[in-house]
Amino acid sequence: MPGLALTGTGLYTPEQSISNDELVASFNEYVRRHNEANHAAIAEGTVAALAPSSTEFIVKASGIKQRYVMDKAGVLDPETMCPRIPERSNDQVSVLAEIAVAAARQAMAHAGRDASDIDGVLVGASNMQRAYPAMAVEVQDALGIDGFGFDMNVACSSATFALQAAADMVASGHARAILVCNPEICSGHLNFRDRDSHFIFGDVATAFIVEQASTARNGGWEIVSTKLKTKFSNNIRNNFGFLNRTAPQSIGKADKLFVQEGRKVFKDVVPMVSEMILAHLAENGIEAAHLKRIWLHQANQGMNDMIARRVLGRDPAPEEAPNILNEYANTSSAGSVIAFHKYNDDLGAGDLGLLCSFGAGYSVGSVILRKLAR
Ligand code: COA
Repeated sequence: MPGLALTGTGLYTPEQSISNDELVASFNEYVRRHNEANHAAIAEGTVAALAPSSTEFIVKASGIKQRYVMDKAGVLDPETMCPRIPERSNDQVSVLAEIAVAAARQAMAHAGRDASDIDGVLVGASNMQRAYPAMAVEVQDALGIDGFGFDMNVACSSATFALQAAADMVASGHARAILVCNPEICSGHLNFRDRDSHFIFGDVATAFIVEQASTARNGGWEIVSTKLKTKFSNNIRNNFGFLNRTAPQSIGKADKLFVQEGRKVFKDVVPMVSEMILAHLAENGIEAAHLKRIWLHQANQGMNDMIARRVLGRDPAPEEAPNILNEYANTSSAGSVIAFHKYNDDLGAGDLGLLCSFGAGYSVGSVILRKLAR
């Protein structure tokens, strides 16, 4: 993709956060209440006792230490265990569009761009605010951008897939610049009553600008090459959808929120991602040793360590594969973009880096970047 560039990034971080200890205390209170209320049935063997969660397990299994959320009180209340986000009227901006706009304003300022420079908005996210109109059109309206917008969902890979779509549109001349936003309120689709996954996700929004490198005002990163791959798997799934009401007996079941087979995902995705990155580098005649940084999707620290080790052929130094999981948890499509946003400024012109997302689908997106001179 010669001549295209990623020229500005933005990050919206919610004001509220939840530590592992706070989350575990709420979960364990829910377990205590459940087991107390069902003690007779548990003794009879007709209801299973629930097991408590632990901070030690969470840190050891995932590397997550806290997460930001839109509504801490609702998540931590053992009666609700769900964020409470009041519905807004149709003449107010929706909450997902609002956080996307907050990240977008930063990305535009960072790139030295205003609304009149941008021709299209892509919102790539795992969960949409509603069926329609598209969030991207709402973001476009809130920012005063004249052009077009649409939403796309490739789960945790939504940002890299949107990056390639944006780059293709700029390369073909269909747009001068595209704004990509990734608003993720993951607490809305996380089952906080599920011991296996209650700690996994956090809320955030990221944004970035794709344009011609020749028009970049404040430097940025040349998009050297992108490579996308999908392969069907049921190991990460969410069956929420518009047909749920046609099968009312299933409404509210656990599969209408995020569910995964975490072990299987780990086993399948590590080789899939590391082999794809190595193939992508080889296709571009780039040796892994020449990468100054790898900004990986943030789902599991052990997984990222293993992928970076397979790609580099040695243990990565912490700054080579930045970890934001400890602070943000898994933020779906935004994770690798947060890592990039926070940890790219120190690199110099000509340095090479690789942005890579992976997740449900399965889906993998790999983007080779070269730093532009300012
Ligand atoms: N607290 C304490 N113990 C827990 C627990 C909790 N919250 N949740 C599970 N355990 C226990 C299990 O019961 C099991 O006990 P056992 O060995 O006695 O049977 C043990 O811990 C291991 O459970 P397991 O689910 O196999 O843990 P894991 O090491 O695979 O870690 C994940 C779980 C989800 C952190 C990990 O598999 C993962 O991150 N996988 C990748 C997922 C991914 O990338 N998804 C992409 C999403 S976008």
